[in-house]
Amino acid sequence: MRWTNKNIWQPVLLTAAAASVASAARSLRHVGKSDDLLSSLYDRASIFDEMIYSEADEDLGKRATSPQFLNSNTSSFAVNGTGIPDVDFDIGESYAGSLPLSSSPNDPNKLFFWFFPSTNPSASKEIVIWLNGGPGCSSLEGMVQENGPFIWQSGTFLPVKNNWAWNKLSNIVYIEQPVGTGFSVGTVTATSEEDVAQQFLGFWKNFVNTFSLQGYKVYVTGESYAGMYCPYIASAMVDTNDTTYYNVSGMLIYDPVIGQNDVQDNIPAVTFVDYWTGLFPFNDSFVADIHSRDSSCGYTDYLNKYLVYPPAGQQPNVIAGQNPNGTTKPDCAALYFDIVSAALQVNPCWDIYQVATTCPLLWDILGFPGTIEYSPAGANIYFERQDVKKAIHAPLNVTWSECSNGNVFVDGNDNSLPSSIHALPNVIDHTKNVIIGHGALDFVLIANGTLLTIQNMTWGGKLGFQSPPTEPLYVPLHDDPSLSSVAGSGVMGTVHSERGLTYVGVSLSGHMVPQYAPSAAYRHLEFLLGRVPSLSSTESFTTDKNVTQPAGSIGNGNAPQGYADVNNITAATNNNTGSKTSSAVGSGISLVGFVGLMALPLSIAAMLL
Ligand SMILES: *[C@@H]1O[C@H](CO)[C@@H](O)[C@H](O)[C@H]1NC(C)=O
Ligand SMILES: *[C@@H]1O[C@H](CO)[C@@H](O)[C@H](O)[C@H]1NC(C)=O
Ligand SMILES: *[C@@H]1O[C@H](CO)[C@@H](O)[C@H](O)[C@H]1NC(C)=O
Ligand SMILES: *[C@@H]1O[C@H](CO)[C@@H](O)[C@H](O)[C@H]1NC(C)=O
Ligand SMILES: *[C@@H]1O[C@H](CO)[C@@H](O)[C@H](O)[C@H]1NC(C)=O
Ligand SMILES: *[C@@H]1O[C@H](CO)[C@@H](O)[C@H](O)[C@H]1NC(C)=O
Ligand SMILES: *[C@@H]1O[C@H](CO)[C@@H](O)[C@H](O)[C@H]1NC(C)=O
Ligand SMILES: *[C@@H]1O[C@H](CO)[C@@H](O)[C@H](O)[C@H]1NC(C)=O
Ligand SMILES: *[C@@H]1O[C@H](CO)[C@@H](O)[C@H](O)[C@H]1NC(C)=O
Ligand SMILES: *[C@@H]1O[C@H](CO)[C@@H](O)[C@H](O)[C@H]1NC(C)=O
Ligand SMILES: *[C@@H]1O[C@H](CO)[C@@H](O)[C@H](O)[C@H]1NC(C)=O
Ligand SMILES: *[C@@H]1O[C@H](CO)[C@@H](O)[C@H](O)[C@H]1NC(C)=O
Repeated sequence: MRWTNKNIWQPVLLTAAAASVASAARSLRHVGKSDDLLSSLYDRASIFDEMIYSEADEDLGKRATSPQFLNSNTSSFAVNGTGIPDVDFDIGESYAGSLPLSSSPNDPNKLFFWFFPSTNPSASKEIVIWLNGGPGCSSLEGMVQENGPFIWQSGTFLPVKNNWAWNKLSNIVYIEQPVGTGFSVGTVTATSEEDVAQQFLGFWKNFVNTFSLQGYKVYVTGESYAGMYCPYIASAMVDTNDTTYYNVSGMLIYDPVIGQNDVQDNIPAVTFVDYWTGLFPFNDSFVADIHSRDSSCGYTDYLNKYLVYPPAGQQPNVIAGQNPNGTTKPDCAALYFDIVSAALQVNPCWDIYQVATTCPLLWDILGFPGTIEYSPAGANIYFERQDVKKAIHAPLNVTWSECSNGNVFVDGNDNSLPSSIHALPNVIDHTKNVIIGHGALDFVLIANGTLLTIQNMTWGGKLGFQSPPTEPLYVPLHDDPSLSSVAGSGVMGTVHSERGLTYVGVSLSGHMVPQYAPSAAYRHLEFLLGRVPSLSSTESFTTDKNVTQPAGSIGNGNAPQGYADVNNITAATNNNTGSKTSSAVGSGISLVGFVGLMALPLSIAAMLL
């Protein structure tokens, strides 16, 4: 994750120190409406239903009394479910610790994991892997703030039970990788995604042997820079032909890095600002400036030319806003960062991961509430606490941070091609079961950029989607057992599937989809695991079957339109921007982009959590 920019943050600190945030009780009367409305809404959602509450407790109790994986091979990893610091309930059966990359027990290179078995009977012979991105960001972030059995999210009082925990559907393991990430120790040797995959496969064999998971179906999931990790790891697993250890059966990646940085961020940026104009209240001269630069870089023209269905043909190697050698023209590269900088000026708590965020900055147990690091005086980083490290068998002498301070690739360079060139299509073609999700409010990676990359990807023998994403993402009505993990329902986005690839745009989500739209993400996992026929299905949640769903048509999807209106496109004014000649350096991977970005005047370093 995350940004470090002392220049931007400095004035913000001063402003924040001067401001005092009044904590008035929230009430509809505050805005001249009756509170009765609010209570009737809550009643209808059964939010305070005691009965449901106690059922949930029972479920966790059962799990705790009958461990499924406890034996002499695993006992040293067993985590005391009632012994997690600050967690005042039983989190159930789980195992955590480190396993080496090779078969040698003395191998000093190890990956750290936390494994949560499921009590769901359909989960008997399958396991989900969850990976966060970075590079160098810990998957324990995903566990404790996105889809784990207990969550402790920014600004919240204490950890709570997560009604949308993915282990309610399947066995899941959170793995910190590659070496150098979180509690995973050893020598950083990776120079490419192929190296990352090789590390992972070595670890995985040990993990499968330890927990006797031979023959399990493997589902690879993650977000952000794991848009590189997951496809390369899954593709390497597929290529082993070894279904005893590596029977990859599906993949789900959120807001993923899969293509060129220019395509995923720079090209769709100004269109995004225009779409969400109320969230980017810029002054007139800046609005004029970004449009004029967008136009001279040819960005929106490129978007309108290529974000069409079926695709307008393969996109060139060297594209709008780039020099003939494939590097991004400095003025074009700066456009995106100038938008970030201007957004932070008017809204110092603006969150690049969720653009509808305003002040105050929230306390966060991992120290990263938004765009940048922030920890109020006296706050601890949860995984830096010795009692927490002990509880999960983490190395006591390793300094944990959400995103590694050191490199996890040698010299910080990942030399692999974007995953959309080969690894991702290979996984789709092999499994016919891949989901790419994207939150509409994410600016660190932009949904239109992901779609643009999909339109330049060949899988199932064809280029891109043949028709635009328009179908509804339906999230079933459900009972919320507690306000602590309350989540939305109904049509919550837009879906499209072709040839084994499903794209799902999630309307009100930021970058971390399971955090911002947990019920939607839970539905995605149900679909990935084959428990529901489609993401437009109006069947109830498999774990909350008795709730009646609406009959009849649910209409179209409601995520922002992810395509150009082909009946109304201003002709590309810059047709010869981005030469059609191919260039060996042209496919420069995103990481090269990051390194380049660090040299920008603003010296903002991006991490993709
Ligand atoms: C688990 O932790 C709880 C709370 O610290 C403690 O009371 C209990 O004895 C522990 N159980 C085991 C098996 O260590
Ligand atoms: C422990 O692991 C070994 C090697 O994978 C396996 O042969 C053995 O059956 C396992 N023991 C148990 C109790 O599962
Ligand atoms: C896997 O199977 C394919 C197709 O049969 C074959 O080309 C490839 O060499 C095999 N790979 C390994 C590692 O055995
Ligand atoms: C591998 O998983 C697929 C489902 O993706 C399943 O049909 C198949 O039987 C599994 N293969 C083995 C050898 O377990
Ligand atoms: C995505 O791109 C299309 C085509 O250019 C555009 O119409 C739409 O407004 C864009 N959406 C966002 C959120 O920027
Ligand atoms: C489009 O795909 C081709 C073939 O994979 C690749 O060479 C080219 O670099 C891609 N263009 C962009 C802009 O990603
Ligand atoms: C690429 O071309 C630009 C513009 O000609 C030049 O400034 C830059 O140094 C070149 N970069 C590389 C790596 O060749
Ligand atoms: C307009 O916004 C830009 C970007 O934040 C800023 O540099 C400029 O100073 C602003 N102009 C005025 C008049 O506020
Ligand atoms: C941390 O402790 C382990 C186990 O005692 C030891 O092998 C390792 O060298 C130590 N690492 C550091 C950085 O001190
Ligand atoms: C769901 O409905 C069925 C049939 O009406 C009933 O037997 C079952 O107890 C209900 N389950 C729950 C959890 O309410
Ligand atoms: C195309 O869309 C723009 C913006 O919505 C509108 O101003 C223009 O009239 C449209 N042109 C045509 C030919 O429909
Ligand atoms: C624009 O580029 C496309 C794709 O390369 C080409 O087919 C078309 O002829 C060009 N149009 C003009 C007016 O140059």
